[in-house]
Amino acid sequence: MEKITDYLVRYKNYNFAIGYTTAEYIDSLQNFEIRDSDTFLVTYPKSGTIWTQQIIISICELDGGLNEYPNNLEQMPWLEYREGREDYSLRPSPRLFASHLTPALLPPGLKDKKAKIIYVMRNPKDNIVSYYHFSHAIADLESPKNFEVFFEQYLTGNVGASSWFDHIREWHSKKDQYDILFLTYEDMVLDLKTAVTKICSFLGKNLSEAAIQQVVEKSTFKTMRNNSKANYKFLPPEKLSGDFMRKGKIGDWKNTFTEDQSQRVDRLLQERLCDLSLNFIWE
Ligand code: A3P
Repeated sequence: MEKITDYLVRYKNYNFAIGYTTAEYIDSLQNFEIRDSDTFLVTYPKSGTIWTQQIIISICELDGGLNEYPNNLEQMPWLEYREGREDYSLRPSPRLFASHLTPALLPPGLKDKKAKIIYVMRNPKDNIVSYYHFSHAIADLESPKNFEVFFEQYLTGNVGASSWFDHIREWHSKKDQYDILFLTYEDMVLDLKTAVTKICSFLGKNLSEAAIQQVVEKSTFKTMRNNSKANYKFLPPEKLSGDFMRKGKIGDWKNTFTEDQSQRVDRLLQERLCDLSLNFIWE
């Protein structure tokens, strides 16, 4: 792994936070065996990962058969980070994994369409603002001097998980190789029940109307904020000094962006992703 800043290392075209994983472990994922019953949640950071994690876990819990773990992170760990946990290949099924990786770094067995992948995207303007605040809250990322500095780092992909634009392109352009459901953070904010219902049917879970309603209630911003298994307050304060559950809104970028910054993101979207015909909800 090549050290690129005091906080980031680069390996196989992807930036990892220092100390989270190793080149050997990332290489070993190429031989990681995928099971039919595996579920993966893939996102670029700050796109609604822990929210969708809570939805998936709640659905699987109500469906029955989920093993007990102390919190959502242990129940659905990031595949790329072992952090002293057991060998994931020995975990009993059904296994749930989160990941911020690009397709090339994930186990090739996913292409056999055995496991299910849920990919959540968030509009990049809100994503930048959320990432900026999170960079101050989490000890393992560089605290940006100001928003302008972070904005430039983000647009050039000099942040953890590299470029948002590459991540979106990689996953959308390879979608036919996977059994994958695409959702957006904004659709989840605007109609959580429809998003929960979509995830349920994609996972092949037949939940009653009342159970779906229960999942919705367990996944609202307010409920999650007070749920110690879901709100990530279980992380030690020396690691996380702020909140994962910050605002949970669409359009917060308007409080931070200049007009020029907004136009630059619009132009980049046009230049780099227009062929994907993505629709963004900005407010
Ligand atoms: P904000 O920083 O804009 O508030 P991730 O889990 O990928 O790190 O994403 C974190 C973002 O998702 C944060 O955005 C957080 O508030 C938001 N989020 C988490 N749970 C949510 C919920 N139940 N409803 C709406 N937003 C939620």
